Amino acid sequence: MTALRHYLQFKDFSREDYEYVFRRAKWIKDKFKRYEPYHPLFDRTLVMIFEKASTRTRLSFEAGMQQLGGSAIYLNTRDSQLGRGEPVEDAAQVISRMSDLVMIRTFEQEMVERFAANSRVPIINGLTNEYHPCQILADIYTFIEHRGSIQGRTVAWVGDSNNMCNTWLQAAEVLDFNVHVSTPPGYEVEPERAGLYGTDHFEEFADPMEACKGADLVTTDVWTSMGFEAENEERMKDFADWCVDAEMMAVAAPDALFMHCLPAHRGEEVTTDVIDGPQSVVWDEAENRLHAQKALMEFLMLGRVGDQ
Ligand code: CP
Ligand code: NVA
Repeated sequence: MTALRHYLQFKDFSREDYEYVFRRAKWIKDKFKRYEPYHPLFDRTLVMIFEKASTRTRLSFEAGMQQLGGSAIYLNTRDSQLGRGEPVEDAAQVISRMSDLVMIRTFEQEMVERFAANSRVPIINGLTNEYHPCQILADIYTFIEHRGSIQGRTVAWVGDSNNMCNTWLQAAEVLDFNVHVSTPPGYEVEPERAGLYGTDHFEEFADPMEACKGADLVTTDVWTSMGFEAENEERMKDFADWCVDAEMMAVAAPDALFMHCLPAHRGEEVTTDVIDGPQSVVWDEAENRLHAQKALMEFLMLGRVGDQ
């Protein structure tokens, strides 16, 4: 039997784990592209709990589980007892006795930690206020597909020090690359909240142009994340100069990629010419959520199944 492991933040896996999962993602993707059925999770059930909206995360987990031979059940706050105050610990006991794997999208990271502490099955963080590890898993897989190893490379993060930024920073520590971060004043990285071991793998820049200089990848995200809507008006003013545009891409490395986890707001955090331009890989990035998470689910459920 595989030892119980959870995926609650990026640093829950080692570099060796990621090397394995990325190899499996490629193997699973190639097989899928050849229309070859692969059902290692036959008869297994994934429960997906959504306390926030989603398109990509729900689709990629639900389709992915089905493609691996299992099934997926969708629960949300509105229609389940979770929204009516049932303790997280009780929900975890019950849900994990009826399923094999649970994915949760919620607000506080503490909720997924408490759920995992009371679960009999692996828990996957499908986004919290603090982290979005499944997205960065897909993003780094996408980088590797296009450019090879990310070790020693430079990623420029322009915008909010949110769940995506925190996860990039953790990934830099695990996989040994650098992140150049530029946020407006008052929105700087909080290393403790980001769950970092130190400050060796990132540098902060007041000017987003400086952060982008020589970068191998330029990436950004919405100015207002889910759960922070009350701050939207203020953020629209504060982030006005943190829009990734052609000038920023021009100072990055000549072969720099652009990524955005989506959904995007063209004309806010990124210009249309950049997100729809030749350096953008946002559609590959979105598709790779499917392939990377299939490898993740297989790894959590079955451990290492091959040398691929
Ligand atoms: N990028 C991402 O997680 O998208 P959804 O919010 O649509 O799931
Ligand atoms: N930072 C964004 C990511 C959405 C996928 C949010 O949390 O809303």
